[in-house]
Amino acid sequence: MRSSEKSTVAVICKSRTELETMHRAGLVVWNVLEELRQMVRPGMTTMELDQHAERRVAELGARPAFKGYRGYPAVLCTSINEEVVHGIPSPKRVLKEGDILSLDFGAEVDGYFGDAAVTVPVGRISAELERLLRTTRESLDRAIDQCRPGNRLGDISHAVQSWAERHGYSVVRELVGHGIGTRMHEDLQLPNYGEPGRGPRLREGMTLAIEPMVNSGGPGIRVLDDEWTAVSADGSYSAHFEHTVAVTAEGPWILTRPREVEGPSW
Ligand code: MF3
Ligand code: CO
Repeated sequence: MRSSEKSTVAVICKSRTELETMHRAGLVVWNVLEELRQMVRPGMTTMELDQHAERRVAELGARPAFKGYRGYPAVLCTSINEEVVHGIPSPKRVLKEGDILSLDFGAEVDGYFGDAAVTVPVGRISAELERLLRTTRESLDRAIDQCRPGNRLGDISHAVQSWAERHGYSVVRELVGHGIGTRMHEDLQLPNYGEPGRGPRLREGMTLAIEPMVNSGGPGIRVLDDEWTAVSADGSYSAHFEHTVAVTAEGPWILTRPREVEGPSW
């Protein structure tokens, strides 16, 4: 989400029952994203992906979270190459071999939300782009690992920033992760940069959408005339991965995937 100025903060911690409902929303998100990532091929349009997602989310008994949100016109965000996030699906946008595509999708079930994203290769991509995708996904893995009671928000932010910058990349500043629950965007805002040991303490039942956005060049972005699509200011490639995660006494719980899936976040 776009970061905003806000003075009062009210973090809502969720009960076990609420987390189970969020997990049901999260499983819809995961299932749709898994289907989409396997459909991606050179020659197809981003609108075809959006139409598939719209049909499947209804079949799975959920409501798409993005469509109509502040006037957003589609079910998915599809962001290609230098597009960072919030790319709008279009029948004119044809995927080509060597592109990277961020698929971002949210769903609502029984009043609770899940939000996740994955950046996938279109056909074969360069070794350098594979490294960008791997590093960004690893920055999410490391951020998720910080989601434990007693840690601080800055520990999550720092995990993303330090891993991305160690590999020569930069993190976007104007866009942040966010609390999530009965609304898609709740307090807190979660920057992808920060100091370890700083910020609010993490408590059991907190639920965060963690979404590293990593540019291969500089950190700057601008928003296109469509008023949605964020692109890197220098035209460099950008990758984006996201999961909805709960802080629990047993450790991080990735709500946007099945329990039995283990290992890397995507
Ligand atoms: N994951 C994105 C975010 O949290 C998705 C929002 S797209 C919107 O900002 F269209 F709904 F805004
Ligand atoms: Co999000």
